[in-house]
Amino acid sequence: MPKPLFGLKHLFGIEGLRREQIESLVNLGDDFIEINTRSIKKAPTLRGRTVINLFFENSTRTRTSFEIAGKRLSADVINISASTSATKKGETLLDTGQTLAAMQPHVLVIRHSVAGTCEFLAEFLDSTALINAGDGSHEHPTQILTDLLTLKHNIGDVSGKTMTIVGDISHSRVARSHMLAAKIMGYKVRIVAPKTLLPAFVERYGCEVFHDFDAALAGTDILYMLRVQTERLTTNCCFPSIREYHETYGLNMKRLKAAGEHCMVMHPGPMNRGVEIATDVADSMKSLILEQVEHGVAIRMAALTALCGGASALVIGRNK
Ligand code: NCD
Repeated sequence: MPKPLFGLKHLFGIEGLRREQIESLVNLGDDFIEINTRSIKKAPTLRGRTVINLFFENSTRTRTSFEIAGKRLSADVINISASTSATKKGETLLDTGQTLAAMQPHVLVIRHSVAGTCEFLAEFLDSTALINAGDGSHEHPTQILTDLLTLKHNIGDVSGKTMTIVGDISHSRVARSHMLAAKIMGYKVRIVAPKTLLPAFVERYGCEVFHDFDAALAGTDILYMLRVQTERLTTNCCFPSIREYHETYGLNMKRLKAAGEHCMVMHPGPMNRGVEIATDVADSMKSLILEQVEHGVAIRMAALTALCGGASALVIGRNK
């Protein structure tokens, strides 16, 4: 097995990463952006490596970007979704994990509705690196690295900047990973949500909490909008109606202008236009949403390279 880079055996979450590791992954992702703009989008970096994407939850951008990232770096990529996996025949997650690991892939990329899935499997799988592609409401590290790369390109150094995250904080692994990353990277996070969509003990992350969106706008550098994760709601009474939610917690042009000329808009996708974000805002010059998607491929190239590429891959990756 090639030696992983940056002291990373697995990528479970932002929690446990050091600032240098985050910066190294973001910078390596930055190096890979160029490959994605070539007419022939192929580099030999991960030739001979095998990546299995195992997705138990729906996904468009994360799953596709891991697949594209692996393929553009010449890895052999296999995609398995829950609906076609043997878990549908009653196999346990552990048996599925051990079965796939017995085929000797270098990396297993896993999305699952249960928090801690990768950590659990890592106890049993010795020679396979694991990447968490989103586990329940817990963490989504490659999304946050993607966002940090996008911010590097648009505002430079994030330290001292203020990111205001708005919406369904309680079910968002993206929000949680940002709250953890903010402490490590030195940016501030404001949380805006109705009380019904706030996690318990949110103060422990050191974020400022607002229930009035308008009161949080001044001083915000990045407005980070979240989808209401209806698939994770246990009740359907978190807010009275979509119309009221949009009026109270939706980002419209008036709010974007009130935040100031410098303020950028981000969203991890998928967007619900007319709910958390108005169409004119989503499509405005201030929106970084499609740039996030583009950078998502580069960051997944970096994550795969770090975990299964080794130092020789780095040299090839930079050989433009
Ligand atoms: C998010 C996720 O799955 O956590 N999307 C993503 O991976 N880009 C956010 C969401 O589903 O709302």
